[in-house]
Amino acid sequence: MQEPRRDVTYTGVAGWIDRRLPVITGFREEYVTYRMPANLNWLWNFGAILTVVLVVMLATGIFLALHYTPTAAGAFASVEAIDRQVPSGWLLRSIHMTGASLFMAALYIHLFRGLYYGSYKQPRELLWLTGLVLLCMVMLTAFAGYVLPWGQMSYWGADVVGKAVGAVPGIGDWLEHFLQGGDAPGDVSLHRLFILHFFMAFAVLGVVVLHVAVLHVSGSGNPKGVEPPPVTVPFHPYYSSKDAVGLALFVLLFAVLVFFFPMIVAEPDNYLPANPLQTPGDIEPEWYFLPFYGILQSVPSKFGGLVVSVGAILLLFLAPWLDTSPVKSARYRPVYRLGMLMLVVAFALLGAVGKHHAQGVWMILGRVATLAYYAHFLVVMPYSSRRERRLPPGVEGTP
Ligand code: HEM
Repeated sequence: MQEPRRDVTYTGVAGWIDRRLPVITGFREEYVTYRMPANLNWLWNFGAILTVVLVVMLATGIFLALHYTPTAAGAFASVEAIDRQVPSGWLLRSIHMTGASLFMAALYIHLFRGLYYGSYKQPRELLWLTGLVLLCMVMLTAFAGYVLPWGQMSYWGADVVGKAVGAVPGIGDWLEHFLQGGDAPGDVSLHRLFILHFFMAFAVLGVVVLHVAVLHVSGSGNPKGVEPPPVTVPFHPYYSSKDAVGLALFVLLFAVLVFFFPMIVAEPDNYLPANPLQTPGDIEPEWYFLPFYGILQSVPSKFGGLVVSVGAILLLFLAPWLDTSPVKSARYRPVYRLGMLMLVVAFALLGAVGKHHAQGVWMILGRVATLAYYAHFLVVMPYSSRRERRLPPGVEGTP
């Protein structure tokens, strides 16, 4: 994959540093001359988009933290002060809130891209696993962040999650107590979640470096899944410019949301201070947790719901071993492609179930969608692995 090392020598200070610590040569090899498949489509833009949004989230988060007070008495007022009194505080907060939603949207696109094109398969299993570790870490970070403003949804969201982990047999009470630092969300929970949110955000950055390092060992996959890719091009200028176009479009969408629809991702109930004596009519998480909340609600027992919704994420870890077909791309696997369609529809439906509360017809839809989600991994993947093992004639070796 990698182009043979060219003898580029740097002069002056750059040369002095590079001879002692070859960072410039390293950067050149990994981001300039690095060979990429020539046929990547726009779905391969999202890794770069995620990296940039992560940096924006860290930068805005640090400035927000400068003005935030992690106590039950002070949190809500400090966030209000950021919105109303801190110079450009409203902008920082709006970028951070909108950024969280856009980050999760990009993350889901990145993940479903990997599922569709078989990016989890050999030799990229470890890359896939580091990605899933990132998914779990980002989810935890997002949950902790949502509690910080200490509005009604923050408080009751923390309460629901506390009770859900409290349903684990044996250690549930201990876990609930550990997470909340008491019998109900309060000062101690806010301290713990603030530290968790801050720490995790930087830990995510560290794991992203690992994720990209693993990627550069195996090289990128491609939409045809034919490997090694018959035609390759250097990362710069081909993909540096393509990534720049994708980023520009993404920043445009970001700006439209921040400046014209700043409240689109906000939950009105979270602009009411947390009140432990008044349960809101509808407790629901942010949109990106709705599919898992939908599963949680569709299963009759509390602990069962927890197991099935956590299991929905754990199944992703098993994908490289559930699907053993040597054909990577769903483009050449009609059965697997149908499975992917079922999975995406089930995931969206579960989101709708989470929003509408699993009662009546929503309960039935929730159960059917949960079964369909599981069926993709436990039925379609192994079945299609046995049936769909060959590329159609003429595909191999074509660019
Ligand atoms: C903080 C979150 C993440 C960041 C910043 C990130 C970053 C990247 C980057 C920069 C690339 C190369 C460009 C591309 O292919 O789009 C990449 C590739 C990849 N990522 Fe991620 N990623 C993240 C999360 C995930 C998750 C949740 C998964 C799925 C489990 C995942 C799986 C992959 C795979 C399989 C590839 C290689 C795809 C291929 O070339 O076929 N990543 N990632």
